[in-house]
Amino acid sequence: NRGGKEQQNMPELLFQDNIALIGFMGVGKSTVSHYLRDQYSMDEVETDAMIVESENMAIRDIFEKYGEPYFRDCEARAILKLLDCRRTVISCGGGAVMRRENVENLKKSSRIVLLAAEPETILNRVRHSDSRPILNGHMNVEYIAELMEKRRTAYEAAADWMVSTDGKRVEEICEEIVQKLNGMVREKET
Ligand code: S3P
Repeated sequence: NRGGKEQQNMPELLFQDNIALIGFMGVGKSTVSHYLRDQYSMDEVETDAMIVESENMAIRDIFEKYGEPYFRDCEARAILKLLDCRRTVISCGGGAVMRRENVENLKKSSRIVLLAAEPETILNRVRHSDSRPILNGHMNVEYIAELMEKRRTAYEAAADWMVSTDGKRVEEICEEIVQKLNGMVREKET
């Protein structure tokens, strides 16, 4: 009982497609992804982990050695490989949906859920991380807020809908996600 289904009394998932989680670094994509995986026996992939495996290198080393555009090409290739996945939670790197082709490819098999949080919450979660090259030397709330603002339009345009995560437990966030996805299935059926 890895996910504690009995205690949590989570709704059944009526949804067969993938769930792609997008949003800023530190917003909780991995935590939510692991919970959905365990609770609903879904498969799980992280685009960052796919890149680390295919390049056999840490993300920060890829940025350092080859630069961001190279990383973004790896990311696009990783997302392309996911077209045939079903019932999979796809945890996307925070910059993945800045490329339109990635959004188009994700949309082919997934509902896209944007996780959101206040810049202060993000900073608290990432402040000790040295594995996020985008934030190297910029670990402050102003920089995070500014980058988040620059990305906002793309995030919102990509998402089927958004969940705010501030002050919520992972169980609550996942329940909200599943209720919403079930609602979408029911809408389609009627
Ligand atoms: C990035 C987010 C990271 C990772 C890379 C770039 C970004 O993933 O893909 O460091 O541009 O926002 P997480 O969102 O999982 O930290």
